Amino acid sequence: MSLVIAMDGPSGSGKSSASKGVARALGLRYLDTGAMYRAMTWWMLRHGVDVEDGEAVAARAAEAVLVSGTDPDRPTIQADGEDVSEPIRTREVTNAVSAVSRVPAVRERMVALQREIIGTGGIVVEGRDIGTVVAPDAPVKVYLTASEAVRAARRAKDLAADPGASVSVTQAEQARRDRLDSTRKASPLAKAADAHEIDSTELSLDEVIEAVVRLAKEQN
Ligand code: DC
Repeated sequence: MSLVIAMDGPSGSGKSSASKGVARALGLRYLDTGAMYRAMTWWMLRHGVDVEDGEAVAARAAEAVLVSGTDPDRPTIQADGEDVSEPIRTREVTNAVSAVSRVPAVRERMVALQREIIGTGGIVVEGRDIGTVVAPDAPVKVYLTASEAVRAARRAKDLAADPGASVSVTQAEQARRDRLDSTRKASPLAKAADAHEIDSTELSLDEVIEAVVRLAKEQN
């Protein structure tokens, strides 16, 4: 398998920026698996599916046609041919995504799609279960963390345009999402035994990218 870099960690740990930066630095593709779960959630909401009803979600999980673009400079995500890059970032989707992602039928479908995209490698893949489930043979696995306060501040900055997204609201919503993502039965957020943990609380983005690039180069 050519290079696969698995980047797992909770929301706000800086995974997306770091993963894109690593992909650019090494000339690799980039896959945002969180965007896929968000797109599936957007699709369920669009079709009036009650996201808290796991059976209803499972019954329709095969219908959404999701297409991910893997250019780190211009990652894209389409659902049924519609560009959903922006709507998948709304609070409505963010607060519903954990309920949809815990449904086993959704995860099976996403993992199969992700493995197809990963193919023979040459890619940085970010998510929650990449090193543990999606690509357990990935030669480089990173588990990125940061203190809860730093993660909430980063999220609030991302959502600065949203008047409801104060740091305290974001922090509470994020803590709830992390709890749901870490305690669900089907492939919860977890650090793979062989993952390198990087705490980004005190690191700049460039320092995180450098640390991952160094790990990747050590593989060769
Ligand atoms: O990385 P993100 O915040 O955009 O991810 C959105 C949600 O998708 C997250 O709350 C949990 C889910 N997710 C998952 O269950 N497994 C992944 N590999 C990636 C994301």
